[in-house]
Amino acid sequence: MAVIPRAIPVFMLLLLFSFSEAREIVVGGSADAWKTPSSQSESLNKWAESFRFRVGDSLVWKYDGGKDSVLQVNKEDYLSCNTSKPIEEYKDGNTKVMLDRSGPFYFISGANGHCEKGQKLVVVVLSPRHRYTGISPAPSPVELEGPAVAPTSSATRLQGGLMVALWVFAFGLF
Ligand SMILES: *[C@@H]1O[C@H](CO)[C@@H](O)[C@H](O)[C@H]1NC(C)=O
Repeated sequence: MAVIPRAIPVFMLLLLFSFSEAREIVVGGSADAWKTPSSQSESLNKWAESFRFRVGDSLVWKYDGGKDSVLQVNKEDYLSCNTSKPIEEYKDGNTKVMLDRSGPFYFISGANGHCEKGQKLVVVVLSPRHRYTGISPAPSPVELEGPAVAPTSSATRLQGGLMVALWVFAFGLF
């Protein structure tokens, strides 16, 4: 059998990774979701529980940049709604934040009093190792067809198919 360079499977795995980086997730599932929730069931954290966020996903906020903003803060400031020293401040009305590591990300509104009224969001990103353990690497259909995944679910499904194909290919080479 021909000698297959070790670098090829590694390359395929990197490619796999880049394919899984394309998701853009609209916070709350709709354009006007970044606001003070009127009830517990409308809270963004309730929404976030239904998602499995992955490294490489991006969160997208749409809001009126003249009236509101998105602050990325640490846990302490998230809990106390302290807007004085955010890690990052976004107020362009169309904010995109890449989830570039595993672990929790904390966001609060910068508008006066909004965080206290519940306009806040914590997103927990699983470590990449959680995604590819087990015999079957295929993402579950639920994961692929979440309600707010852009651009379209069929594109996402295609992406999933590609990932599986590449995965099989990469392991076929070992
Ligand atoms: C908010 O955070 C800043 C800096 O971290 C701190 O100096 C200030 O006392 C905090 N304010 C409140 C109300 O906790």
